[in-house]
Amino acid sequence: MDKKEIVLSGIRSTGNLHLGNYYGALSKFVRMQDDYDCMFFIADLHALTTQPDPAQLHANVKSILAEYLAAGIDPEKATIFVQSDVPEISEMYLLLNMHVGIGELMRTAAFKDKARKALGIKTDDSADEESIERQIIGTETNKRVNAGLLTYPTLMAVDILIQKANKVPVGKDQEQHLELTRRFARRFNNYYGVELFPEPTNFDFGGHAVKVPGLDGSGKMGKSEGNCIYLIDEEKVLRKKVMRAVTDEGPKVPNSPVSQPVENLFSLMELTSAPEVVKQYRDAYADCSIRYGDLKKQLAEDILKVTTPIRQRVGDILANDEYLGRVVRMGAEKARERASKTLEEVRHIMGIRRFY
Ligand code: ADP
Ligand code: TRP
Repeated sequence: MDKKEIVLSGIRSTGNLHLGNYYGALSKFVRMQDDYDCMFFIADLHALTTQPDPAQLHANVKSILAEYLAAGIDPEKATIFVQSDVPEISEMYLLLNMHVGIGELMRTAAFKDKARKALGIKTDDSADEESIERQIIGTETNKRVNAGLLTYPTLMAVDILIQKANKVPVGKDQEQHLELTRRFARRFNNYYGVELFPEPTNFDFGGHAVKVPGLDGSGKMGKSEGNCIYLIDEEKVLRKKVMRAVTDEGPKVPNSPVSQPVENLFSLMELTSAPEVVKQYRDAYADCSIRYGDLKKQLAEDILKVTTPIRQRVGDILANDEYLGRVVRMGAEKARERASKTLEEVRHIMGIRRFY
């Protein structure tokens, strides 16, 4: 039998999982576990880059673990682990950083965005790139952009490369990080004249990466955006959030262009509802008979069909510390086995060799 391709992905432990995490990542994890050699982890070291409260960080690791399991990741099929349980990752992060440029890290969109936030610069401020860079390295303020934030892509590349993963199911927002991972893999292989690392690619069943929009009419649903539908939202809360989603005054003439906030609702519907339901509402928009209230009601019901079983399972799982412990202990063992092998190879290739 052919060896299965290795799949690896992780989610930062920064809060409960939302629909963006679900469609961008988690739902794919569940669908991939039968056909691939899957490893799914909780990126607690990455969560440190935004300096969480220690007790909260620990609680978040646990809740994401429970949500992974409640969504259907089966620890008998896939390896589930916590990033910090694999110390080999931290060592290889140091080694790989020697081949990563600070310029290329500073130019990544996620870094610029988070650095801006750390310095208290709003996105709509007219601060140009140069002035942001000056503020990052300058002494103009007592605010700091921590070095962990800058080297975030190195750590993510190590997560992937240390397991020699081929496929990395992530949402659209992570594609730049994946591109950097490929670049670092190629660079390492070329520099040392080896073929150690495969170049990993994103994976999506629909063929293109998903971006789940927010309910506030804005770009993406995100934990730090405050515009999320959480998988564990109670029915009432969830319905209320959907009913409050931003729309517009409605189409006045047939076949009007669709505004961004309304298009966002259609996008959510395309992910959750049956194709004929989406068509029905698209047609109603086109002939101006649409009532946004109806669309939202339908959308809320269809989202609930996805989230309710997960919400119902999560409580019991969370209460079972013994089971949670067993899952991640088993996962860490498997993850470390592969990681320590790769780390040994990397150390040897780079000339870090023992005398004894
Ligand atoms: P967040 O962006 O909410 O802080 P993470 O950065 O931990 O969440 O993302 C974990 C995974 O979920 C990644 O694969 C990411 O691409 C995906 N993801 C997060 N938000 C979205 C979204 N709005 N649309 C699609 N995928 C998303
Ligand atoms: N950076 C990812 C995110 O914010 C999380 C992550 C860390 C990850 N390491 C990874 C995803 C390795 C895939 C593979 O969503």
